[in-house]
Amino acid sequence: MSSLRLGVNIDHVATLRQARYATMPQSKNAEPDPVAAASVCERAGAGGIVAHLRSDRRHIQDRDIERLRQSIMTKLNLEMGNTPEIVDFALRTVPDEVCLVPEKREEVTTEGGLDVITQHKELSATVKRLQLAGIRVSLFIDPTLEQVDAAAELGVEMVELHTGRLANAFTEKIEKEELEKLRAAARAASESKVQVNAGHGINYKNIALIHQIPNLTELNIGHSIVSRAVRVGLGTAVKEMLAAMENYRG
Ligand code: PXP
Repeated sequence: MSSLRLGVNIDHVATLRQARYATMPQSKNAEPDPVAAASVCERAGAGGIVAHLRSDRRHIQDRDIERLRQSIMTKLNLEMGNTPEIVDFALRTVPDEVCLVPEKREEVTTEGGLDVITQHKELSATVKRLQLAGIRVSLFIDPTLEQVDAAAELGVEMVELHTGRLANAFTEKIEKEELEKLRAAARAASESKVQVNAGHGINYKNIALIHQIPNLTELNIGHSIVSRAVRVGLGTAVKEMLAAMENYRG
C-alpha cells in the first residue's frame, strides 16, 4: 500500500450528468450519480472524495454534497471559492475538510492558486469560521515560498500545491524548474508543520514526477481518473492510480 493518500475528485461524473440533465434535475433517468461513483472510488481504495461546488453549479449540485456528506465512509473534501453563499453552505453541511480555491466564472477549471498575501484578511475570517465548525482547512496555492509562508501564518491545517504548471511543462519536457519550485514549497510547508497535498492536472504519466516531490500526504486527482474510467471502469481507474502512487518515499 502507498503511504500517499488519494482523494478522488468526482466533479466530472456530475459534468456528464449535467450535460444531459441540467434542466431536468428531478428526472429518474438522471445519470451518472456522483454519490454512487464516490462509493466505487472508496471501495477501490480512495482515501477521500473531493468535490467542487462552483458558484455557477456547472457540475456538482448542493444536493450532491448533502448526499455525499451522508454516505461517504472516508472523508469529504469540499473545494470552494471564498464567497458568503458557499461559506454558509459549508458551515451548514460540515464536510471533513474544505479546500479554498480561487474561482472565476469564465475559467474552464481552477487556473491558478489563491493569492494568500493580498487576500489575507478575507481568507483569515473564513478560515477561522470553518475551523470553529470543526472543519480542517486547506488553501490551494501556487508553489512559492511566499504563498506557503502566508498560508502557514493563517494557521491552516493544510496547503494543496498547484501542480497544473508542472503537468503542462511535462508535456513539453521542460518540467525541471517547476519541479524544483514544488520541491522547495513542499519542504517549506512541512517545516512549518502544515500538511502538504498536491493536485491539478495529475495523470497516469506525470504521476512519475510527483514521486520527486517530498513530504506529500495526499494527491487530489479528478479528470484523468474519470477519463480513464470511460475505458476501464471507475474502480479499475482508481486502482491503477493507486498502483502508480505506490512506493512513494516522501
Ligand atoms: N485540486 C484542486 C484544488 C482543483 O481545483 C482541482 C480541479 O477541480 C483538482 C485538484 C483536480 O484536478 P484534475 O481534475 O486536473 O485532476
